[in-house]
Amino acid sequence: MAQPIELQPQAITVQELAAINSRQVPERYIREGVGALDASFPVLDVPTIDLQLLASSSSTSGDELDKLRSALSSYGCIQAINHGITSAFLDKLREVARQFFALPSEEKKKYSREIGSIEGYGNDMILSEDQILDWTDRLYLILRPEDKQTLKFWPENPESFRGILNDYSTKLHVILEVLLKAMARSLNLEENQFLQQYGDQATMQARFNFYPICPRPDQVLGVKPHADGSVITMLLQDKEVEGLQVLKDDQWFNVPIIPQALLINVGDQAEIMSNGIFKSPVHRVVTNSERERITVAVFCIPHPDQEIQPVEELINETHPRLYKKVKDYVSLYFQYYQQGRRPMEAALI
Ligand code: OGA
Ligand code: NI
Repeated sequence: MAQPIELQPQAITVQELAAINSRQVPERYIREGVGALDASFPVLDVPTIDLQLLASSSSTSGDELDKLRSALSSYGCIQAINHGITSAFLDKLREVARQFFALPSEEKKKYSREIGSIEGYGNDMILSEDQILDWTDRLYLILRPEDKQTLKFWPENPESFRGILNDYSTKLHVILEVLLKAMARSLNLEENQFLQQYGDQATMQARFNFYPICPRPDQVLGVKPHADGSVITMLLQDKEVEGLQVLKDDQWFNVPIIPQALLINVGDQAEIMSNGIFKSPVHRVVTNSERERITVAVFCIPHPDQEIQPVEELINETHPRLYKKVKDYVSLYFQYYQQGRRPMEAALI
């Protein structure tokens, strides 16, 4: 498939739209036939996992490994606690994110995304005339490896933004290793099996999501249903405002907030590596008519030349190989994503 071609840049951000007209939403954001999005939804009891316990090689980690395997194979996500990042640090990150989005438009637009590329501030790519738009502005930045950072997109205001974000990515990298090793151990694999495929050239990419107040939460989504194209995604939720929903057993559930936790979910590439044992959950974001919401998602993504495939030991007669070998899954992913299709279709055998 050819690279997607972006039709038009959005001249106006959602934040500006919301400020100009606080009572109406342009047609292009309205979704019909999805049911009332502001209805009340049941709460998902996302399992809480203690990363400190996972990291210890003693027998005490056994129960936690079982819990991890079971969570990732049914919910596809966990609330990670005891991850080694202090609540004070998480609050600092939330605060610089808030300060950035609170800057005047002209200031933020210095970091605007360029047409056809993903990094920078603004809307997601629009790939067709009939694409229904999401009620969000985002700042997308490559964090790692450091020589892939494009600093012109990195806010200089607030002043501490860059330093805090670099510290955050260093801390997340430690967590990622603990987690990938634990995921392998939980399936009785040698602990480096997933880490090896993930590779040492992998990237971490941050998506700061800003969801303005929306006058039509019944018919507008913050982010349309999708599963992540990453191996793993680590989400720092807003401390007070919910909005994330996960699809489980064909029903949407609200993901509760645990302020000091990181919500970690399986991405499509971990589903492939685990031959379908771990589930990459479909999720979406609903909007809110009273409060804005800010989140920071970090996607952990192998280098585009890295081949990803089901681990050999997980394939046998009762569990035949489900997925092909894939490379540069993320490019593939975006071509499907903006059409509202599940990119995993492309990897299925
Ligand atoms: C994402 C995402 C969820 C949220 O950025 O991929 O699913 O709550 N974000 O912002
Ligand atoms: Ni997502």
